[in-house]
Amino acid sequence: MNKRALITGITGQDGSYLAETLLGYGYEVHGLVRRVALQDPRHRTERIDRLPGEVELHAGSLESFASIFSIFGRARFDECYHLAAQSFVAESFVDSFSTMNTNVAGTHHMLEAIRQVAPACRFYFAGSSEMYGKVREVPQTESTSFHPRSPYGVSKVAGFDLTRNYRESYGMFCCSGILFNHESPRRGLEFVTRKITTAAARIRLGLADSLPLGNLQASRDWGHAQDYVEAMHRMLQQTEPDDFVVATGETHTVEDFCRLAFAAVDLDYRDYVRTDPAFYRPAEVDLLLGDGSKARERLGWRPRRTFEDLVKEMVDADLESAWRERATSNRPAPLPSPVPLHGRRQVAVA
Ligand code: NAP
Ligand code: GDD
Repeated sequence: MNKRALITGITGQDGSYLAETLLGYGYEVHGLVRRVALQDPRHRTERIDRLPGEVELHAGSLESFASIFSIFGRARFDECYHLAAQSFVAESFVDSFSTMNTNVAGTHHMLEAIRQVAPACRFYFAGSSEMYGKVREVPQTESTSFHPRSPYGVSKVAGFDLTRNYRESYGMFCCSGILFNHESPRRGLEFVTRKITTAAARIRLGLADSLPLGNLQASRDWGHAQDYVEAMHRMLQQTEPDDFVVATGETHTVEDFCRLAFAAVDLDYRDYVRTDPAFYRPAEVDLLLGDGSKARERLGWRPRRTFEDLVKEMVDADLESAWRERATSNRPAPLPSPVPLHGRRQVAVA
């Protein structure tokens, strides 16, 4: 019998890669989506348009216990990956109340519905390195204490605690992944990596002329989303439920990311990146660096792509979109000159 999984947040970056991975393993895949997504498939379900198989979508709202409860009544799920969340840290400072509602009450609704209707269903919670916030030690492990620095971080600590509490109180198979930042060409445009790769590509093709950013010195442990969803799956295949850090063990600044992304299109980021106070946060997470030894030893998981591979893949994908945009724009601007090359190979773009 094929396993049946429910993914919340299936229309997001991770949900779409996870759906692909599970279909590849022969799962029957279901997704919880907001009703608006079903009503506007051209925009809202773009990331799952070309999956290698069928998925069954259920309209539901994380904020409504009744809607989640009814989905668990429709099919017997073996595994549930709870990825849906208000995931943009900056937005959580703007509207902390709805972030809390979606992320904390949403997670609570999922756990309680499973407890009442499907207690044998294995549950994955999308925890985050943002929970470490003002980090107590470097690198961060499963036993590093949390000190969240944003409403989003606070909401994820609450989700993590709820998940552990359902495991310990009711013997449910509940795991949290403490995932460090992971990116891909499917990353939302508001996150810094995608903002940089899109801008580098568009500037290269004369479609933009500068890139405003906030704190260039923040350091993140950036991996590839496609690698990370594999770790989520492995967590739910263990004999005992547990929590795992998933990270590459390397950290880079936002400025490093800019340098590499602009160099990939033969430009010098210093000519285009400017800092804008509007993109600074009220409280910042300065340095994240994960120690993924436990995941390596117990799950046999390790990242397959390097930081350099990730940046290149994202820039290449954004260059393709920028070429399409340029082809349809009325008056494309002249292309900027490549940086004077200090012994580097020149790449023709026209
Ligand atoms: P994402 O691309 O922003 O996707 C978020 C998903 O959540 C979307 O499918 C979105 O649906 C759904 N969602 C948001 N609010 C909802 C609501 N009220 N009801 C139902 N669905 C809702 O995020 P991601 O990068 O894939 O991340 C997946 C999860 O991992 C999130 O919980 C995030 O906080 C966590 N996480 C991410 C990272 C990372 O670096 N990517 C690291 C650690 C943890 P719509 O399409 O309808 O908006
Ligand atoms: N978004 C954004 N935009 N971030 C900027 C900018 C900018 O213009 N300029 C500098 N940054 C800095 C932020 O201040 C932050 O320190 C860093 O770039 C990364 O920001 P994001 O890409 O927005 O990601 P994040 O680290 O805040 O959160 C992501 O990773 C978490 C895991 O640590 C999200 O995916 C969260 O959902 C996830 O939990």
